[in-house]
Amino acid sequence: MAPANADAQAALALTPQRGFGFAGAVALDVNRGGRGWGTAATIIDVAAEDQALTLTSACDTTGIELVHHLELDVETDVVRITVTLANRGAAAVSVHRLPSVCVPVDADWSVTSWHGRWALESQLQTVTPFTGAWVRENRAGRTSHHTAPTIWCHAPGADSAAGATLGLHLAWSGNFRDTVESLPDGRRYAALESVWLPGELILDPGESITAPAVIGAYADDGIDGVASAFHRYIRRHVLRATLRETPRPVHFNTWEAVYFDVNATVLPELIDAAAGLGIERFVLDDGWFTGRNDDTAALGDWTVDRDKFPDGLGPIAQRVNDAGMEFGLWIEPEMVNPDSALYRAHPDWAQALPGVDVVMARHQLLLDLSRPEVCDYLFDCIDRLLSDVPIAYLKWDMNRDLAQPGGAGGTPIAYRHTRALYALLDALRERHPSVEIESCASGGGRADLGILARTDRIWTSDSNDALDRLAIQRGFATVFPPEVMGAHVGPRDCHITGRRFSMAFRTAVAMFGHMGVEADIRELDDDERETLLAAIALYKAHRAWTHAGKTVPLHTPAHEHGLGIVASDGAQALYIHAILASAPVAWSPRLRLRGLARDATYRVDTVWPSPAPADAIHDATFGGDVLMQIGLPMRVAKPQTAVIYRLQRLAD
Ligand code: DGJ
Repeated sequence: MAPANADAQAALALTPQRGFGFAGAVALDVNRGGRGWGTAATIIDVAAEDQALTLTSACDTTGIELVHHLELDVETDVVRITVTLANRGAAAVSVHRLPSVCVPVDADWSVTSWHGRWALESQLQTVTPFTGAWVRENRAGRTSHHTAPTIWCHAPGADSAAGATLGLHLAWSGNFRDTVESLPDGRRYAALESVWLPGELILDPGESITAPAVIGAYADDGIDGVASAFHRYIRRHVLRATLRETPRPVHFNTWEAVYFDVNATVLPELIDAAAGLGIERFVLDDGWFTGRNDDTAALGDWTVDRDKFPDGLGPIAQRVNDAGMEFGLWIEPEMVNPDSALYRAHPDWAQALPGVDVVMARHQLLLDLSRPEVCDYLFDCIDRLLSDVPIAYLKWDMNRDLAQPGGAGGTPIAYRHTRALYALLDALRERHPSVEIESCASGGGRADLGILARTDRIWTSDSNDALDRLAIQRGFATVFPPEVMGAHVGPRDCHITGRRFSMAFRTAVAMFGHMGVEADIRELDDDERETLLAAIALYKAHRAWTHAGKTVPLHTPAHEHGLGIVASDGAQALYIHAILASAPVAWSPRLRLRGLARDATYRVDTVWPSPAPADAIHDATFGGDVLMQIGLPMRVAKPQTAVIYRLQRLAD
């Protein structure tokens, strides 16, 4: 009992409840016609099976039943938690708030999360202990560029590589709220929840809803330790088993090469150039469908533009296949341009609020996916494309927020939009199981485990700026493994930041994800071409194990970047060391590696740039303890350059 408080403090339960007097910000909030809001569900059944626990709670006065299901995956050290609310009463229940989970955390722990913006996503931000609440709320209707449904709470003194850390992720691609609140009595909790609009979630008698799942992991080696658990979990339980053993093919994407100027003349030139570089998948981005010459028109009209492709996409896909590559296609199904045949035929299919001016973004509107006829239309369009053309890959884009998520008559449909999207993706995957799908939303605006359970790759960011990419990819790796991280070699002069980087630097950065090329490869000079060829060959030589390996970020001074991937059997590793800006001193400190076996011996070679400078480390032998405790000696290097070391463990 806290002084001057209630005789008994309401527990920090998985679902805090108002009926017990819980006065924190996050709790179950329901009502049935203005009554029945003070739920006080108590546990009536506990079922434990293997590593799973199911807790059933009931509140007889409000007719609310809660079922919490916690499942620990011992292989990955990740717990998956869901809560299901059922209406056991005689009248409809309106649900305002159903947190997916609340977890107690120590009052002096800090909170880390992602923040960012378009073209600079997944930046890590830490907030030290505070009073009151820390809240990140996302109303973008997609996972968003500015925050993420992931938080890490960590003990005083913890950093990314060390210290007690609890990571929580909400597997959800719509609106959400992350909260860490310090209660006046000194207790603190972290909560993740999806957000429903007023009146969006009404359950009739007998109906139930399962809130989006949370996955959580605890590690005593910081955010990186939690990330390793998340990566293991994603590989075992989220990604399709069929893709685990398949090498991730090198992409070519037409967007930053030619933008909307795709046609039957330009594409063969790019196809030939891509094949000559050893590229394995050719993705035709925006601009291929009827009337799509810029971003003002045609979204919704998913038929091939016969002005650009008089014989359709079949011959293009055939040429791609003949050149030894897979063919991929961009679509943005959830959208419609007012200047489109679809909108002219069905203006009522667009999301809107009656009597309110529409909020435009990129000249486009959201479709109302809560209408079955809209999803049927989209399914038919995409199904036809996939059936008519040998498409192995879809890049599924989504280029604006849900600003006015109103369905027929203005009904709230933000939550329903995401659910309908999931159902559409699930149906397409069932019909076309071999087609891989990439989740893109103006870059990394839809990156979460809800969407990844239905897709195979995430477009990390629209920025191909190699410097910014190092930070973006570092943040991205706190949740996602490298094989799902789209990482492209962009144009010589970055189209977004205007910065110029060497081909050696751009390729070094892209090699640490799922590598691709997104630049006009017809105009490479000889040196650039040779470097790109060598980088693609290096990526291919190692991807079988880097895409199953453990990511180990390194400690470096602020103007440097270091990160490694260690093979799951420990037999080899690749480490990138990049110089970001001019150093305050002449010499870089030694680079202390992580993730090695202390008592093993390693051969170290500089494998990038290629060819390596004559005085670069080559065929050198070090103990794992030396590499981790003392570190590799560094050469003097210029800003915006990167070196990649390959380590091979030698037999004892
Ligand atoms: C935004 C994506 O992030 C880009 O990669 C590209 O596909 C454009 N949309 C096309 O409109």
